[in-house]
Amino acid sequence: MPRQIRLNAFMMNCVVHLAPGQWTAPDDNSVGYLDTNYWVELAQTLERGLFDGLFLGDVTGIYDVLGDSPAAALRTAAQVPMNDPVPLIPLMAHATKHLGFGVTVSVAYEAPYLLARRFTTLDHLTGGRVAWNIVTSYLQSGARSLGQTQLRAHDERYDRADEFLEVCYKLWEGSWQDGAVKRDTERGIYADHDRVRPIEHEGHYFKSEGIFQCEPSPQRTPLLFQAGGSTRGTQFAAKHAECIFLGAPTRNGLRKSAQAIRAALVEAGRAPDSALLFAMFTVIVDETAEKAQARYEAYRQRASYEGALALLSGWTGIDLSRYQPDDTLAYVDTDAGQSALASFSKLDPDREWTVRDAVEFVTIGGRGAVVVGDAAQVADELQALVEETGIDGFNLAWVESPRTFHDVVEYLVPELQRRGAYKTSYTEGTLRDKLLEQGAHLQPPHVGASFRFESGAR
Ligand SMILES: Cc1cc2nc3c(=O)[nH]c(=O)nc-3n(C[C@H](O)[C@H](O)[C@H](O)COP(=O)(O)O)c2cc1C
Repeated sequence: MPRQIRLNAFMMNCVVHLAPGQWTAPDDNSVGYLDTNYWVELAQTLERGLFDGLFLGDVTGIYDVLGDSPAAALRTAAQVPMNDPVPLIPLMAHATKHLGFGVTVSVAYEAPYLLARRFTTLDHLTGGRVAWNIVTSYLQSGARSLGQTQLRAHDERYDRADEFLEVCYKLWEGSWQDGAVKRDTERGIYADHDRVRPIEHEGHYFKSEGIFQCEPSPQRTPLLFQAGGSTRGTQFAAKHAECIFLGAPTRNGLRKSAQAIRAALVEAGRAPDSALLFAMFTVIVDETAEKAQARYEAYRQRASYEGALALLSGWTGIDLSRYQPDDTLAYVDTDAGQSALASFSKLDPDREWTVRDAVEFVTIGGRGAVVVGDAAQVADELQALVEETGIDGFNLAWVESPRTFHDVVEYLVPELQRRGAYKTSYTEGTLRDKLLEQGAHLQPPHVGASFRFESGAR
């Protein structure tokens, strides 16, 4: 039996996510992001293709590191304009039955109580199909917009995120006992007050005291995703994440990242396969290899170097306009995201990247690799990747919208199914049931499970 491949679609509520320049193509409808039908049709396409989830990225702030100016990002629509992804979820959930919805919310600018309530609401409205991608933010422009002079230091952001999660676990897992909701119409009793208790939290960063306002949702804690690839980010992911995103441009880099995460999970007292690993990836597939290749060439012609330069500068915190295109990228610690630069420098010692190489790579699919071909060629490559690196699936970026995902559903999914490497129906239940097959709730030894009412922890 071949290893099963899982697919997520990776989108943002914007025109240009990871393929700057492609919105100008005659058939592209990325500007449709302002229309509810755009999202409903996308969700239905993905569900037809039995995708596990639509994963919505998000950033707070503008990519203004390049040349210390937002001009390039604005000209090329590089992740600006960008709308809030959360309101898209209920409307897509209403139009689908099984598709999961992952959404990025940064802990940098939120109060744990309010974020916990928003996710509980989403989990109720989706019938337990919501996941949270926990990020700590990397754009200084976002911090300034929110009234802070600058982001906290890189590793401290994760320390604070740890405590943020602790408050959320207390609210989601520890305030309402199972069975607290009675809905007893005979006696007119909605909830058994003896089974609802206040949480108490007084830590270094947060203070929260009182009963959680929401009744428990199907999953209680939403399925937890994380994508930090730095040393501290990996440690954080190993403690909290149930699904982890990897962004590595080479096979070697992907294998090394996957190994580091599996080892970190063990270090954190969890099984090495207790989290699913998804690689950021782009698939350009068509009826024939020639057609796919021709489209890829057209994408290359249309790609915006300037847009990719703005994105890579924002991710790394390094103003790449200060470098010559032939300069070699070298790793330095920055207070932006650390793994973006690492993936083009120290992650894979067999590959040296110039600034030009890295920026051209980023123009199509960001830090993820690209595979081009007919369905058989693409399936060969994806199968080889999961076998060789030990990952569980792919977080597929889009190049043209809605074309990229239509093509995956039309050509690639049936080919993977023929090979027995892809499901032919959804599992029933919540997103956690579908992905982890462990029931709807967090289970020990996951740290969040220790905050359950039954455990006596507060
Ligand atoms: C597949 C993938 C998706 C990501 N999505 C987001 C996102 O939507 N928003 C965000 O702020 N960061 C996102 N990131 C960045 C990471 O969450 C993280 O902030 C970044 O890698 C910096 O953390 P590090 O220094 O620990 O690597 C993503 C990374 C990867 C690999």
